[in-house]
Amino acid sequence: MRIILLGAPGSGKGTQATLLRDRLKLVHISTGDLLRAARAAGTPLGLKAKEVMDRGELVSDDIVLGMLEERLSQPDVQAGIIFDGYPRNLAQADALSALLSKLNMPLEAAVLLDVSQPVLLARIAARSKKENRTDDTPETIRHRLQVYQDQTAPVIDYYAARGNLSRIAGDGTLEQIYQRVSDALAARKSTN
Ligand code: AP5
Repeated sequence: MRIILLGAPGSGKGTQATLLRDRLKLVHISTGDLLRAARAAGTPLGLKAKEVMDRGELVSDDIVLGMLEERLSQPDVQAGIIFDGYPRNLAQADALSALLSKLNMPLEAAVLLDVSQPVLLARIAARSKKENRTDDTPETIRHRLQVYQDQTAPVIDYYAARGNLSRIAGDGTLEQIYQRVSDALAARKSTN
């Protein structure tokens, strides 16, 4: 099974991806986590990405695609994959379609976690008190949300046009949202 989780910053992609990973035994691929690991390791790529991430911009498509290709070359991905944070623009959506087609790994679903802006802001504000993400400052959050609207939101229509999109309400408890994601995946399976 290959699933993409779509949604704005703070919509719960990482949280739901972790539940799906643990319960369905899928591999969770978060491009944000891959970039943060490269930063923490102090690699040249990581240092370059740090400045971009701290501004709330998108890291270049080439860098992120290179990291993704490397991750997809590892054998564990045969178990199934949850993509979290990729694709983030139409060029990345095309790149992922080409990559999955080359690997003969069809996509089952792109699940959009639909969350209102006040809830997004409240979640990120709560996270910023507990975690030390350098891109969770008020100014950068505003910019990340704008980048999402400008560059990532068109990806929703990309998957809708291909019949892959399931849109679910992303507010409520973790378990309520997980249940909605599971129901959406089950509904998709029964119609495929
Ligand atoms: P990335 O790490 O992907 O961040 P993001 O998309 O901005 O998303 P977040 O991690 O903020 O939120 P989330 O949707 O995962 O929500 P979460 O589960 O954490 O990207 C960071 C940066 O890396 C980008 O800005 C860019 O620079 C770069 N990057 C990454 N991918 C890239 C790509 N493909 N191309 C180019 N650049 C890329 O939840 C948020 C908080 O809410 C948590 O504290 C959580 O505990 C809490 N929460 C979750 N669900 C609930 C709930 N139901 N109720 C209450 N609280 C909840």
